[in-house]
Order: sequence, then C-alpha cells, then structure tokens
Amino acid sequence: MILRARLCVSSFLSNYPKEKKEDYSTLFEHPKTRRKAREREREREREKATKATTSSSLIVTMSFVEELKATCAKLSQKGKGVLAADESTGTIGKRFQSIDVENVEENRRFWRETLFEAKDVEKYISGVILFEETLYATTEDGTQRLTEILTKNDIVPGIKVDKGATIQVGKDGDGETDTNGMDGLGDRCKEYYKAGARFAKWRAVLKIDVEKALPSADAVEANAKSLARYAKICQENGLVPIVEPEIVPDGGHDVEVSRTVTKGVLTKVFEHLKKENVSLELMVLKPNMVTPGSGNEESEKDDLKVAEYTNEVLLECVPETVPAILFLSGGQSEDAASRRLNLMHKLQKESGKAFPWTLSYSYGRALQASALKAWSGDNGNASKAQEAFIEKAKSCSLASLGEL
Ligand code: 13P
Repeated sequence: MILRARLCVSSFLSNYPKEKKEDYSTLFEHPKTRRKAREREREREREKATKATTSSSLIVTMSFVEELKATCAKLSQKGKGVLAADESTGTIGKRFQSIDVENVEENRRFWRETLFEAKDVEKYISGVILFEETLYATTEDGTQRLTEILTKNDIVPGIKVDKGATIQVGKDGDGETDTNGMDGLGDRCKEYYKAGARFAKWRAVLKIDVEKALPSADAVEANAKSLARYAKICQENGLVPIVEPEIVPDGGHDVEVSRTVTKGVLTKVFEHLKKENVSLELMVLKPNMVTPGSGNEESEKDDLKVAEYTNEVLLECVPETVPAILFLSGGQSEDAASRRLNLMHKLQKESGKAFPWTLSYSYGRALQASALKAWSGDNGNASKAQEAFIEKAKSCSLASLGEL
C-alpha cells in the first residue's frame, strides 16, 4: 500500500513543470516558515474563540457522548443519506437564478419546506443540513418550525456553522483560503443545539492548480487545523461535526492528480483531528469523490477510475472508527453522482470485504437540480418538484447499497 502511494505521488509529480516539483512536495510535510506571523495571529484568534468552552470541555463532552453516538447512528443508517439544504443566501441565489426565481426569504422558505414535506422523504434521508435562516424559520401558516417537519419524521436537523471560505492563506494572488467562522463558535453551537440542531457542517475549500502547484502546504495545513478545531468545539457542545475538506473540481487536471491531492489532504486532516483529540467515532467525514477536474474532457466519464481511486484513497486514509463517509456531489451531474457511488459499493462487494464505515451521500445539487427545474418558481408545481426530488433520493439510496 505504501509503495503504491509513493508511486502515485511520484507519477503525479512528473505531471508538474520541473521547477514546481519542490513546491508541491511540501504538501505532504509541515510548512516551514511561510506566513508564520499570520498563522500565529489566527491561532491566537482560534484560542480566544474556544477558551470559554475548553475549561469545562471534559465534563461537557462526557455529558453529550451518548447523544452524539445516537446522532451518528442515525446519520450512518444504511440506505439513507443527508440532504445538504444549507446553501448560503448567495449560493441559493445562484441556484434560483438558473430557474429565474427571485432570491427572497419567502421563496427560500417555500423551496425548503417543499423538500422537507415530500412524501417518503424519511425513507431516503436521515438528516438535513440547514442554513441558519432555515433553522429558525416557520411554515407558511406559521404553526410550526420547519425543523419540526423533519424531527416528526425522525430526520435530524443539522446546521452549517462556517461563515464561508474568506480568509486568505498561501501566496498573494493564488486565491487560496481558510474558512471563516471560528469567532464565537462555541456560543453559536450552544444556541443551535437549543434550537434543535444535532449535527453541524464546516466546509473547507481547497483548489487544484497544477501549474501553480496548488493546493499549497500552507492552505492544506491551515484548513486541516480549522476543521479539527471546529470538530472539537462541536463535540463539546453536543453537535456531531461533519468534517468537509472539499477539493473543488475546477480545472482541467486528470483523475490521478485528484487522487494524489485527496490523499494528501485527508492524511493531513486526520493528523490534525487526532492532535486535537477529536473523537473519530463521533464525527462524519464529507469528502469529494476522486474525479477528474470539471474542465477535463473525462469529467463525466471514466466511472471505473473514479470509483476505484475513491475507494483506494478512503480505505487508506480514513480510520475504521469513523462511522460514516457522506460524499458531497461537487457539481457532478445527478446521474454521475449516484452511478459512481453505486460502483464503489459494487467494487467493494466484489473484493469480498465490507467497507468499515457507512459510505453514502450528503448531496446538495445532485439531490435538488431536477426538482428545482420542476418547480421553476411556480408554486403550483410543488408536487412535481417533490416527485423529482424523491426520484433522485431513491436512486442515491439504491446507489448507497450498490443496488442501483
Ligand atoms: P453539493 O453536493 O452541491 O456539492 O453540495 C454539498 C455541500 O454541502 C457543499 O458544501
């Protein structure tokens, strides 16, 4: 296995321009000196943000353990996955724009209520990630909170707690980021818990640029540290952390590059989760699949390589104690996202061994794209949208069992 990993790293390096090789190799090592001052400053911020919770962390954590276990068990149910309905106001605006719908609170509430009320949703969906606005929103008639629709169906409400990938890291001009939201995170988690959330999500964003040898070691290190700190704070406050290190698919790179980078990033993330003493059995991983870049002509093809490499990377990097791995769809078509998940399960079954964790979905676009089109902003189309949503959820569910 180690030999295979080395071979794969060296073949990836051979794709880089010669002068870049040294830069890229630092992805798998500690960054040495670059941007130390900025890093120290951020470290101080993080410590300040978490101080309030850490003093009593042991007692708090102990009191939540049973509940965190129960939440993990729900999110790890076979044949179910999570609906990511936590698009920020800006992101849902882009989705609405594609169907010519105005991005106002009433439309956002209507859309999400429509999804949550779909018949049979509980057969395929174990949890829903919400944006803060939805956590506190009520139904159109004002009689109940939207979260009650979920909990009545035994669907766990979750909450996006990050504030977007807005902190600059790495070299000026490279556009690399760390994720914002550490300030007051412990206090926000307490409020979200009171409002009924039982799990959380924090999305780290890393990008591949072969020419520039990105992601840089600085960006990988910074994001892995933030994910670990976030995960710890969530567990101390009764929320199961979904740890999402997303390597975005932008670019023309091939699937081998994605394999090497995903392996490097996940290795670093688990290194920091362990350093931070995050309980790995009380978290969920939400990774990208190992795919070619969206600008690569193979991006929608070659399912076999995607499935093989994704299985290989996850089996190598993700400890068996992690209860569930729930993929993001990352701009893949609805069909590709379920076909590939299905194939991963088929390949694993053929190998004669079961996956050590639940391997399923936490899709946003790949569960909502057809439904959004069916709705198209005409509320009379709500039931058509629900049917389209459930049809996709059902395919994802079958795929998560290798039965599509
Ligand atoms: P997509 O499935 O649309 O990538 O969204 C999942 C998600 O939650 C991204 O943070």
